[in-house]
Amino acid sequence: MSLTYSSYLKIDELLAAQTPLSEGPEHDEMLFIIIHQVYELWFKSMIHELEYLQKNFETGDVPTSYATLKRVLTILKVQVGQIDVLETMSPLSFKSFRSRLESSSGFQSLQFRELEIVLGKRGPQALEIHHENPAGLAKLRRRMEEPSVYDSFIAFLNNRRGGVPQEVLNRDRTQPWTPSEAVEKLMVDAYQHDPEATQLCERMVDLDEGLQEWRYRHVKMVERTIGSKPGTGGSMGAEYLRTTLFQSLFPELWSVRTQF
Ligand code: HEM
Repeated sequence: MSLTYSSYLKIDELLAAQTPLSEGPEHDEMLFIIIHQVYELWFKSMIHELEYLQKNFETGDVPTSYATLKRVLTILKVQVGQIDVLETMSPLSFKSFRSRLESSSGFQSLQFRELEIVLGKRGPQALEIHHENPAGLAKLRRRMEEPSVYDSFIAFLNNRRGGVPQEVLNRDRTQPWTPSEAVEKLMVDAYQHDPEATQLCERMVDLDEGLQEWRYRHVKMVERTIGSKPGTGGSMGAEYLRTTLFQSLFPELWSVRTQF
């Protein structure tokens, strides 16, 4: 049988994957399922692109790094924009099927944690929630040992300009990033003398800011949908989510601004 649109894209499998649990079912549960599935597909795409970005940083390929970053940023904008769609669901409508979610929550999104780790978040907290999923946990642990996008970016800048000590370049990847004066100096130098690297620095800031923007939009959506109720995943809900705001994954790219 020749390849068709449907067989290539596995449309039948894709469209069979939305199974509302509420009686009726409640009208908005379909939107709720689809939007989460779409997010998971975009997370997959982002991780795929970020791996490619790291390869291009390693080989010092500026045009392809720039193009890849632009794609990642465009996907992120789409992800932030999708929150508007979910905000068309009223609190009462969400309440009509919320109990069916039991203790499931976006908290448990393995790909979201993987994305955070790939970008640069390290440390044991990200792993705790996945203790019931050994395969997922092992995957996150492996990711933690690999250089992050931030590590690869710093190595890229250092290959162009130098000055970062080996202990920073070969740091223990499993530990959270420790802010480094040498890295800040490297960035000052890049901004002052390397226009190509400057463009990449600015797009990296867009990426860090974009993720923070998603978090902000998510917490506001949570507030308007469930107020100050706890989350299905067992956290304090919006109160917990507010503690995750304004956290930078690329800190020197922000602190360097005070130097100019
Ligand atoms: C009505 C819609 C939504 C509500 C009420 C909601 C609520 C929450 C709450 C309360 C938490 C905190 C953890 C918990 O106790 O459950 C959370 C975490 C999370 N949610 Fe949502 N959420 C919604 C939609 C989404 C969507 C569409 C996504 C996209 C994948 C998403 C992804 C996440 C992620 C990744 C976390 C973990 C954030 C972190 O720990 O930094 N949520 N959500």
